[in-house]
Amino acid sequence: MSDKTYTLRDNSTGDELELQSKSGSIGPDVVDVRPVYAKQDIFTFDPGFSSTASCESAITYIDGDKGILLYRGYPVEQLADKSSYIEVCYLLLHGELPTAAQLEGFSHSIRTHTMINESMLRFFNGFHHDAHPMAMVGGVVSSMSAFYHDTLDINNPRHRQIFAHRIIAKMPTIAAAAYKHTLGQPFVYPDNDLDYSSNLMRMFFGVPAEDYRIDPVAAEAIDLLLILHADHEQNCSTSTVRLAGSSGTNPYSAVASGIAALWGPAHGGANEAVLRMLEEIGTVDNVDKYVNKAKDKNDPFRLMGFGHRVYKNHDPRATIIRKMCYRVLDNLGQQDNPLFDLALQLEQIALKDEYFVERQLYPNVDFYSGIIYKALGIPSSMFTVMFAVARAVGWVSHWQEMIEDPDSRIGRPRQLYMGSGPRDYQAITERS
Ligand code: SDX
Repeated sequence: MSDKTYTLRDNSTGDELELQSKSGSIGPDVVDVRPVYAKQDIFTFDPGFSSTASCESAITYIDGDKGILLYRGYPVEQLADKSSYIEVCYLLLHGELPTAAQLEGFSHSIRTHTMINESMLRFFNGFHHDAHPMAMVGGVVSSMSAFYHDTLDINNPRHRQIFAHRIIAKMPTIAAAAYKHTLGQPFVYPDNDLDYSSNLMRMFFGVPAEDYRIDPVAAEAIDLLLILHADHEQNCSTSTVRLAGSSGTNPYSAVASGIAALWGPAHGGANEAVLRMLEEIGTVDNVDKYVNKAKDKNDPFRLMGFGHRVYKNHDPRATIIRKMCYRVLDNLGQQDNPLFDLALQLEQIALKDEYFVERQLYPNVDFYSGIIYKALGIPSSMFTVMFAVARAVGWVSHWQEMIEDPDSRIGRPRQLYMGSGPRDYQAITERS
């Protein structure tokens, strides 16, 4: 608790209400506005919650002005350089880096939960081949509560743990099944002798007709992208999972609500939109035209992959992904990949433009990720699914933190009502 207080004063009556501030371990303090409605009969107003702390959390810290991102205190740059996605999953879930024995036990548990129920596999046959993979993944994840109703007691720590491990383990399998369905290819079962990212690639690209050779640079790139997308504080989809979960619903349905929120082009759907945008721009000669469209208030077009609600400096993830882009394209012999060249030039032009500079709009995590996915053979319709696979551990960690918080209660915002006052029903013959 901080010793600072703030006074809310009604200047028309002179009434004053003293509000207590609260300090976190780092970052801005908060002012506790819970007494405002009770004592002043007014609501605080913050559409989009850009100035609102919705909870206390110890999982991820972002400093948008300095471009800092910490997972449980560890800079994402260090985790990207030294860790693995499965180790980052343990860190986000448990709050500490695992010992060798803890990592082995956790990895074993994840590897032995990668398969999905055969009945769940049959759901995919109900979708048309051109169904968007996010629609399939969201539907199948939501169905998981129908298969595991014996371990849905959210107040049972063991049930919470088995839910966490099942989601982390099965997301790549469900993602791969959705992708194979769009291709009309047979589903490839997981191989538990492979590491997480290699297993994902083999389920995506392997076929029964021949052995699949894992490209180590490609697997390393996928693992890096999973680490960088794993969590991001109270973003739209994570806040959705927290709000859905606050009703006490089963955690599979709460995660499915996060998948729905992530799909939007303003959020995780931006990576797919970036590739469409780059392909529509085509060549650097058209960049100025599209930058001007993005600046035109009358044009709904926005430069996808640019801007962020929190980062008003470089998104540290975009910087790391851009470097990995060079490595992947070099490894694939695509040093002069036209999309990457176009993205680099688009970034340079935008960052010199006053409109972007004064609004502090920089490339975000979605700007370069799709170029790597596409170079690895993953189609743009699967980009947001890759984001969902990675972010699943963030959703689960925040859901778990909320459920374990003794002060947690159902989320229920209020509103500023702008509608009609009370009025009487009119018979249809009296209506004009
Ligand atoms: C993710 O929250 C997270 O942490 C999300 C995420 C995560 O890891 O979970 O980081 C992942 O969602 C990244 C963001 C992916 N979305 C996109 O790339 C879509 C393009 N970006 C924009 O839609 C926008 O920047 C948002 C949605 C990301 C942020 O929206 P804000 O904070 O509401 O920004 P804003 O609308 O207040 O913009 C401020 C100004 C406005 O202009 P003015 O009204 O001041 O004149 O900047 C303009 C906006 O019009 N602007 C853009 C722009 N983004 C903002 N103009 C052109 N192109 C853009 N991309």
